[in-house]
Amino acid sequence: MVTGTDAVILVGGLGTRLRPLTLSAPKPMLPTAGVPFLTHVISRLRAAGITHIVLGTSFQAEVFEEHFGDGSELGVELEYVVETEPLGTGGGIRNVADALRGDTVLVFNGDNLVGVDLVELVAEHKRRNADVTLCLTRVDDPRAFGCVPTDDEGRVTAFLEKDPNPVTDQINAGLYVFRREIIDTIPTGRPVSVERETFPDVLASGAYVYGHVREGYWRDFGTPADFVAGSADLVRGIAPSPAVAAPGESLVLDGAEVDPSARLSGGTTIGRGAIVGADAVVDGSVVFDGARIAAGAVVRRSIVGAGASIGEGTVVEDSVIGDRADLGARLELRSGARVWPDVTLADGAIRFSSDL
Ligand code: GDD
Ligand code: MG
Repeated sequence: MVTGTDAVILVGGLGTRLRPLTLSAPKPMLPTAGVPFLTHVISRLRAAGITHIVLGTSFQAEVFEEHFGDGSELGVELEYVVETEPLGTGGGIRNVADALRGDTVLVFNGDNLVGVDLVELVAEHKRRNADVTLCLTRVDDPRAFGCVPTDDEGRVTAFLEKDPNPVTDQINAGLYVFRREIIDTIPTGRPVSVERETFPDVLASGAYVYGHVREGYWRDFGTPADFVAGSADLVRGIAPSPAVAAPGESLVLDGAEVDPSARLSGGTTIGRGAIVGADAVVDGSVVFDGARIAAGAVVRRSIVGAGASIGEGTVVEDSVIGDRADLGARLELRSGARVWPDVTLADGAIRFSSDL
């Protein structure tokens, strides 16, 4: 158990890479394994005994409080601090300072799932008497992330956000432990990037920034490909979340109707009240509430928005279908197609295949 530690979750981003789904809901509120993504993060905190959680909100700020309220249903105490103009990741952390109670502060990017032992992370931060501890992970291509080299003792030597020529495969996993006083040094009243400004400044001041390199589960859910893969990991129990009661090959939520001849696989979720017709195949996908997938349709590695319809025999692969979009029969959508909400596509109107 952890005492005297607050958690801050940054959830104020626009989620542009997940449009059009993030036009109607902030990224951390999109459903994964039947609950908003943020529920998984909060449940992990609760399991570690960290119960005072502050959400730094901006874009669609009200949606979070409407859903989570005071947090008591999840066994935590939630506070909301709203940025009327987005203050960036560093400005967002500084903005919640008045709500903090302890001298150790865990900060999370609101779209990352990090399979780290939070109790051990905080203990190591204290043992080392670090000013900031950064949770790091290794990836094949670090260019889309914060690149974080360390020395032999694990001390961070630089923080290079979105560097086109990475010097290491160690990246910022979007989870930090701050000594409270460091947060008070972040400037107020203007946007600040924790990655591009605060961490380089803290390093330049000679403060002790420790890099805790992790081998366990890690994923940023911020792109369609990662969102579907991460959701499937949650459904199958590969991604660690106390909010997933019974992992399995697929998850069919209350009130959904799936024809017995349909095949669900690869960690697919079928949302509440959704309908899947005869011989349809839904693999590694997230089907939101009230969507309809007609007979013989094939949906792979895709997100089907709330109330959207996929017509008979239509193939949707690696694509995002907006809420209430109406796709006719015998269409082919592949390789990153995005259909905007409420759009109607006539039968056979689009046949895209990367094989052509
Ligand atoms: N409150 C607030 N205000 N939150 C914000 C703001 C803001 O102005 N801007 C972004 N956020 C939140 C987002 O909602 C998200 O949860 C988190 O900050 C990170 O923003 P992303 O837009 O998802 O950043 P990224 O994925 O490009 O890069 C970040 O995450 C990588 C790991 O996934 C950086 O922290 C990288 O260094 C890191 O490697
Ligand atoms: Mg992200």
